[in-house]
Amino acid sequence: MRTQVAIIGAGPAGMLLAHLLAAEGVESIVLEIRSQAYVAGRIRAGILEQSTVDLLRSAGLGERLDREAFEHRGIYLQWPDERHHLDFVELTGRSVFVYGQTQVQKDLVAAREAAGQEVHYEISDTVLHDLESDEPSVTFTDSSGVAQRVTASVVVGCDGSFGPSRAALPDGVRRSWEKTYPHSWLGILADVAPSTDELIYAWHPDGFALHSMRSSTVSRLYLQVPNGTDAQTWSDDRIWESLATRLGHGEGGWKLTPGPITEKSVLPMRSFVQTPMRHGRLFLAGDSAHIVPPTGAKGLNLAVADVGLLAPALAALLLGGDSRLADAYSETALRRVWRCTHFSWWMTTMLHATGDPFDEQLQLSQLRWVTSSEAGATGLAENYAGLPIGF
Ligand code: APR
Ligand code: PHB
Repeated sequence: MRTQVAIIGAGPAGMLLAHLLAAEGVESIVLEIRSQAYVAGRIRAGILEQSTVDLLRSAGLGERLDREAFEHRGIYLQWPDERHHLDFVELTGRSVFVYGQTQVQKDLVAAREAAGQEVHYEISDTVLHDLESDEPSVTFTDSSGVAQRVTASVVVGCDGSFGPSRAALPDGVRRSWEKTYPHSWLGILADVAPSTDELIYAWHPDGFALHSMRSSTVSRLYLQVPNGTDAQTWSDDRIWESLATRLGHGEGGWKLTPGPITEKSVLPMRSFVQTPMRHGRLFLAGDSAHIVPPTGAKGLNLAVADVGLLAPALAALLLGGDSRLADAYSETALRRVWRCTHFSWWMTTMLHATGDPFDEQLQLSQLRWVTSSEAGATGLAENYAGLPIGF
């Protein structure tokens, strides 16, 4: 097979890249180890920044989003006996949108299917070749067991944190930074109307809790738990009791309404960045180059920002022979990556209990500052609602 861009991974980064490239008149083939149903069914984060929504709309992917997403003006930040609302619209002129990654993925798959996009699902043995030449290629075994090769002008690794692309950069070239956190999140989906109009981020001595949502009938909630926690050891009753305590059920008349839990899982938390995001004819985008902990919901937004930069860069390179944007891609993308890496780390360290009384006082001091000073609140709001693409 021959194409202009071989894309490894059919997650949001890979599928959106294929979509944006097609709009520029660039052909691509997408390769994915999992089944279409598996990729579509994965439950991930659910907050889109204003710039992500703008990009999806301008790419013709905003129709269902405009009908179904909830636009939120901001978030609540709280600690025992105090709840504060940060109004991002007032502070920065930008809002955020509740629309699950699962929905974004569905819209992308539908749009690419309608356009006849070539996607090979359930492949195996993905190997990248000749990345420093003008004819790189990817070999794999297709779903019928036949050995295949895609030769392209460019290969893009959108294969997430476990894919082979990031390791395809030579050892002497790549550099990585990593931080693991001593806690994880226990996440649940519940068939119950959200008990809040906007997301609640709660600091509590027992551990962090987050009240998020997916729709007017489905709530998504998280609890800080120790690493290595088995989700099955937390009964539904224990989960709702802990959420009620940490989210402040009964304080100021606020109530958390429990409901049937339909999904329960533990998410590890990690920060990771690998540079450069381009080597020869290989480009990395999304989780293949960087992972953030979920506090602040940056993962999907960063993946979208990467491909928002990469698509025009590849179009200029492949259609006009102009390599300037492609040459600048890694450096430009990494500015935002490090900003979001810092923001996600900062939100995580401000909100998660460590058991250290000194940390606790600093966290409370920081929370008081971001909720009472306009400068503090604006800094959080600007990062949460998202810097413009190209920052
Ligand atoms: N060959 C082909 N595809 C692969 C391979 C491989 N060897 N290894 C992994 N993949 C696929 C995975 O199965 C997955 O579908 O690459 C895809 C990567 O998708 P995501 O993990 O969703 O990553 P990305 O598209 O970068 O999206 C980032 O996902 O993890 C969240 O917080 C993150 O929301 C953000 C988003
Ligand atoms: C979610 O809804 O899954 C979510 C929302 C906000 C976060 C993390 C996850 O910071």
